[in-house]
Amino acid sequence: MGNKIQTLSGYIHEYQKSVLQPEEFWSRIADSFYWKQAWSKTLEWDFDGPDVKWFLDGKLNITENILDRHLFTKGDDPAIIWEPNEPGDKHKVISYRELYEMTCQFSNTLVSNGVKKGDRVIIYMPMVPEAAVAMLACARVGAVHSVVFAGFSSTSLADRINDCEAKMVLTSDGNYRGAKQIPVKEVVDEALEKTSSIEKVIVLNRTGDKVDMKEGRDIWWHDAIEGQSKEFKAVEMDSEDMLFILYTSGSTGKPKGVVHTCGGYMVYSYYSFLNVFQYSQGDVYWCTADVGWITGHSYIVYGPLLAGATTLMFEGVPTYPNAGRFWEIVDKYKVNQFYTAPTAIRALQAFGLEPLEPYSLESLKVIGSVGEPINEEAWHWYHDHIGKGNCPLVDTWWQTETGGIMISALAGITPNKPAHASLPLPGIQPVIVDSEGNELHGNNVEGNLCVKFPWPSIIRTTYGDHERCRQTYFSTYKGMYFTGDGAKRDHDGYLRILGRVDDVINVSGHRMGTAEVENAINEHPKVVESAVVGFPHDVKGQGIYAYVICDMEGRTEENLKKEIKDTVRKIIGPIATPDEVQIVPGLPKTRSGKIMRRILRKVASKDISNMGDTSTLLNPEVVEEIIQGAGLK
Ligand code: WTA
Repeated sequence: MGNKIQTLSGYIHEYQKSVLQPEEFWSRIADSFYWKQAWSKTLEWDFDGPDVKWFLDGKLNITENILDRHLFTKGDDPAIIWEPNEPGDKHKVISYRELYEMTCQFSNTLVSNGVKKGDRVIIYMPMVPEAAVAMLACARVGAVHSVVFAGFSSTSLADRINDCEAKMVLTSDGNYRGAKQIPVKEVVDEALEKTSSIEKVIVLNRTGDKVDMKEGRDIWWHDAIEGQSKEFKAVEMDSEDMLFILYTSGSTGKPKGVVHTCGGYMVYSYYSFLNVFQYSQGDVYWCTADVGWITGHSYIVYGPLLAGATTLMFEGVPTYPNAGRFWEIVDKYKVNQFYTAPTAIRALQAFGLEPLEPYSLESLKVIGSVGEPINEEAWHWYHDHIGKGNCPLVDTWWQTETGGIMISALAGITPNKPAHASLPLPGIQPVIVDSEGNELHGNNVEGNLCVKFPWPSIIRTTYGDHERCRQTYFSTYKGMYFTGDGAKRDHDGYLRILGRVDDVINVSGHRMGTAEVENAINEHPKVVESAVVGFPHDVKGQGIYAYVICDMEGRTEENLKKEIKDTVRKIIGPIATPDEVQIVPGLPKTRSGKIMRRILRKVASKDISNMGDTSTLLNPEVVEEIIQGAGLK
């Protein structure tokens, strides 16, 4: 594999080339794929639009590069290894040939149920191979998939269906998650009461739960695929045709549909996978994310499969049936690259070393982290006890919008530094800017993280609302993509990500907009106003703290707090449930009526030193009441 960087000097050389001659650089990588028609121009861009196009006029189908291309060279090699929720249940190994057949068969199924090129299909499924098959089949027929994490509520699901006017939902009867069984079909049924675009629902039989099947709309997966051919000629896509939409939270309004396109995403997810994890043919690679998040898209499905890798998919959770489950799986399949989130590491660290004792973990060569800043303590625990001190730990910084890993060590090639994402990948030009947007050169600087040149998998638009894309990412600093994160370049020149600088909280590696949680809280009839902030949380990284002004009539404080939490759970989903709800008499506001979140953040993190000057507030007395109400005085 000529695209894999082998040495530190190789990295430096490639990086320089990628900055000096980006088009030649990416053209060479893209050349290693099968294109139905070559591109006429490598890149056209303007961040003011924004308008970014890669591999213009190139025609391809990403699944031909995942499936057809590997059929003859590695048809019998394992593409997906699937480990079910129950350790005793039968696992599955799916070869590239089988994956090809399953994908073609499901492509025919989609088409015979009315799906055409450009149609949107929602995938609301458990972590089973069929979820990957569903994504690939959409890509093969040219439909746009939008995977919705199956922990989201019916309201969140309905919002996403409505936003992209999806035609079909792919789901299951129920999901297993640890000791829990989740009635997902019921959630879909509820969501579809609030939507009108869905014509068909295909339901995978996973748990055998009894579900309502609506005549004419709902079909069982096994019935739908029966008799469908296992050959399907991949639909020709333009490089800039949409591949998928993935909804993510921002600091304002409802989640937005981040759009990725075929050509650029293919090239970048593959290239970053290969180089960051230093995958070698025959290795077993495991990413513990859910396909409902971008990590699952780029580093369970697309990146690894484009590289012809063996990717492991796990249906369950790290602590079921006990806190040794991850390590049992690593030993069982001799996993070589293991990629997880700091929140999982911290949760497992809390169980001590005993759960690790039965396992050798000797197959591991590379361990990785994603989703939030990894604190030094968790970094060392992971490095020493899981990596046994001799596996490179890649701390990978990236976002739904970037499509692939942007800043990270390349395992064993570039140096590892605890809690530092470290260096940009070739082709990535990060800059740190001050509040005016001036680039801060040199080392020992801190500011907001931007990227000044496009890379192939950069967000193209937010579905149905291009202006929102421009405003959110390309208007804060002229001519740059703004990440929403703060960063520091340390004295050695390594980048350290400092976390969000906007109103987004990162709960267990999942992004939550404070406004989104506030909107949900405000749905409760007794709520007058609310303000939500993040606070440091030992396991989740950040927890959610809600300050709420309520009409207390007929309610006790305890009742109301519970009802508020339930409201959020119902409207968004369990991941957004506030950890703390404090009923307050008022919220600190500036004279122009803006909530002073800085004060609320300090109280939520139990730090009331240096509250700053509060005398200019509209209602300074409320600060003292909030501090007392939080039990801090
Ligand atoms: C945060 C997840 C520090 C960051 C792939 C970013 C990180 C947001 C890291 C994107 C990391 C992700 N170190 N922070 N290694 N990785 N983040 O869209 O704040 O779910 O902006 O993508 O997660 O979250 P998203």
